Amino acid sequence: MSDHDNFPRRGLLAVLLAGPAILTLRNKAASAQSGQASQLTGAKVLTAYFTRSGNTRVVAGTIHRALGTDLFEIRPAQAYPEDYEPTVEEAKQERDRAVEPPLAERIPNLAGYETVFLGFPIWGETAPPIIRSFLKAHDLRGKTIRPFITHGGYGLGNSLSVLASHAPGIEAPFVMEADQERRTLDQVNKWLRGRDSSGAR
Ligand SMILES: Cc1cc2nc3c(=O)[nH]c(=O)nc-3n(C[C@H](O)[C@H](O)[C@H](O)COP(=O)(O)O)c2cc1C
Repeated sequence: MSDHDNFPRRGLLAVLLAGPAILTLRNKAASAQSGQASQLTGAKVLTAYFTRSGNTRVVAGTIHRALGTDLFEIRPAQAYPEDYEPTVEEAKQERDRAVEPPLAERIPNLAGYETVFLGFPIWGETAPPIIRSFLKAHDLRGKTIRPFITHGGYGLGNSLSVLASHAPGIEAPFVMEADQERRTLDQVNKWLRGRDSSGAR
């Protein structure tokens, strides 16, 4: 992946969410990887999301609770590495080779949903490879797709055209700049090396 630091920085852009749906919730299954629950109840609206460091999960959870949607975490069959740098490398390889990693699970009863809130972070200036897998594995034609996307300060890249090529019913996205794991790691490592400006250590 050409490093996302090379991309022009964009500020926060937020397109307000508005939408239907209200239904009761029941916990169906916990995600083995994250400990977060997928909650599927037969609601007509689904919030499906992929996350690595949790930023997109916060948005997903907010939508889920505000609108009473079902909730589904998109996970690869084989988890990405725990550490950031190996994940960046693996994602770069996948992107450059157009790999579509297998999903751990597909959405059960997709036909029952009229609207899908679909969330993901920007990886390498585009949608993560697992989102391409997700789009290919699910027929979203005829559904209203409401994307929500977080990025580390470099904007959406070509992610919307990736979505549009698979799912015609796309509405204006909610887009938010959020913490970059790399920035957090750099700051913590600097502090651990005793070079922080607070004089610690
Ligand atoms: C592999 C990888 C690649 C990334 N590439 C970009 C990028 O191209 N542009 C950008 O603005 N942020 C990039 N980021 C930062 C994330 O998009 C941002 O931190 C996002 O909010 C993370 O969401 P999450 O916490 O839900 O995983 C990248 C992060 C990772 C892990």
